[in-house]
Amino acid sequence: MTIRKKLVAGNWKMYKTLHEADAFAQELVEYRDMLSPSSVDALICAPFTALCGLGEKLKQVHVKLGAQHMHEAEQGAWTGEISAAMLQDLGCEYVILGHSERRQFFAESDEAVAKKTCVALDASMVPIVCVGESLSEREAGATQTVVSRQLGIVLEMLQLQKAKGALDGAFVIAYEPVWAIGSGKSSSAQDAQDVATLIRSLVTATLGQRAGEQVRIVYGGSVKPDNIQTYVQQPDIDGALIGGASLQVASFVALVEQV
Ligand code: G3P
Repeated sequence: MTIRKKLVAGNWKMYKTLHEADAFAQELVEYRDMLSPSSVDALICAPFTALCGLGEKLKQVHVKLGAQHMHEAEQGAWTGEISAAMLQDLGCEYVILGHSERRQFFAESDEAVAKKTCVALDASMVPIVCVGESLSEREAGATQTVVSRQLGIVLEMLQLQKAKGALDGAFVIAYEPVWAIGSGKSSSAQDAQDVATLIRSLVTATLGQRAGEQVRIVYGGSVKPDNIQTYVQQPDIDGALIGGASLQVASFVALVEQV
């Protein structure tokens, strides 16, 4: 049986100045022993402005660094954008792609997310590909259709391009129902598990058994220290992607401890 390392990933979104991010890393030092690297990967995906220098500080407390977005081009006239190589310069090991806020407010398409996923893998970064249905899609009973469409394009492109690491499942898929994000209304653990089972079967069907067993699937949407366990106890859920509850040190550490 494949043992997948759990992942507790904080997504700070557009919160924390450089000074506040530094203070967070500094305070984490007190909890260094609780952030043991053996069974859990702890990760912070910080805003671009906070990335420089943060990776080194987080490394001292066994926490990895990630970004929240990137462009698929290597370089070029893309005002305001950032490339995989630039993120690597800053020490990012992970990058969130296709978060619903990027899809909804910045018109990021399934195709763009698929291209970025291949680029991140080629650059040896771990993509965290976000999928999930809106409230109206859920009410229409379209959850599985939406998730299959969002992921289908990514998986087909990974297969076509034989993207590095894809066949080994060296990537993460985050199931984040849009209605659960920042709303205090989390999905039931069983519903999240059902979608995670679908996701794993789609990965297996497209990229093969090994990829299906290795890929880490995390749940996101109003995850807190007091409910994270119910998700990670599910057989197909390997961790969580957390917004609000990752912003305070005590709660971030508690999330890692609960896993
Ligand atoms: O990416 C994490 C996120 O969208 C969930 O946010 O605040 O509901 O944990 P939150």
